[in-house]
Amino acid sequence: MATVASGFQVSFRSSLVILGWKLNAEGGVDRLFYHEKRLQYHAKPERPDPVYARKLQEILGGAFGEITVMMQYLFQGWNCRGPAKYRDLLLDIGTEEIGHVEMIATMIARLLEGSPVDQEAVARDNPMVAAVLGGMSPQHAIIWGLGASPNDSADFPWTARYIVASGNLLADFRSNLHAESQGRLQVARLYEMTTDAGVRDMLSFLLARDTYHQNLWLAAIEELESQGLETNPVPSAFPRHLERQENNSQFWNFSEGTESSQGQWMNITVDGKPIEYIEKPEPLGDVPDLGIGHPKVYGTTKEKALVGAQM
Ligand SMILES: [Fe+2]
Ligand SMILES: [Fe+2]
Repeated sequence: MATVASGFQVSFRSSLVILGWKLNAEGGVDRLFYHEKRLQYHAKPERPDPVYARKLQEILGGAFGEITVMMQYLFQGWNCRGPAKYRDLLLDIGTEEIGHVEMIATMIARLLEGSPVDQEAVARDNPMVAAVLGGMSPQHAIIWGLGASPNDSADFPWTARYIVASGNLLADFRSNLHAESQGRLQVARLYEMTTDAGVRDMLSFLLARDTYHQNLWLAAIEELESQGLETNPVPSAFPRHLERQENNSQFWNFSEGTESSQGQWMNITVDGKPIEYIEKPEPLGDVPDLGIGHPKVYGTTKEKALVGAQM
């Protein structure tokens, strides 16, 4: 327990920084978001490795990095109009991912610790170090002061375009499963690119959490569908009669041979209809013949004189 200057009694661990609070019914203070000083899991490399630090940026600020899943789950949660348990689920996992962002950022900063910034001096003393420095991100030294950046391994900045928060929970949960799958794949690859026991220890934790998260989203998809809140195909509330139903159970083969007919996707039914394998699909449309655009756009048209004459 600790007492803050305002006199409110606050129950929190000693390492707490409160970003926001509210009075509860008892006149005490409830935590909203807070920062716990200890990391969610260890993030301590055995030794500095500035080249590997750059590689690790991929699972921090890359398309399938921790910043992406953090922002994706938080925005899905904040925008969730579904049952409270789904909102809580999204915000729980999104908050967990904040901890993963912190761990990897800390790991990167530690991998950069002691990185020489005077490459010429280092090269004079140790050509091997100079060679290693050849793969270090210059931005780590020049822009980020030997710290982590919200960028990927090629120093491309993280962008909100990576995230999905559509308001349709089945579409979003599928996207979450995809993100966790790609994310775990990249973590596994990074695991193989280092022998540092400290780095591998942190990655083994992330692999484990990604294992659970993949299973979690699979179960959440199943639950959502079993409750009938949203089912395949997304969006399930769209009136089916408005889609061209004669085309919704066909496989269109666009390759030589018919190997693609040998799969489970041929053994399903859509709206009770078996899948029809169309070995040589014929075009259903006509030849596109565009009209003349607006003359002020000055595009090339079929009849040059016509455009001039209309002006
Ligand atoms: Fe994560
Ligand atoms: Fe995750």
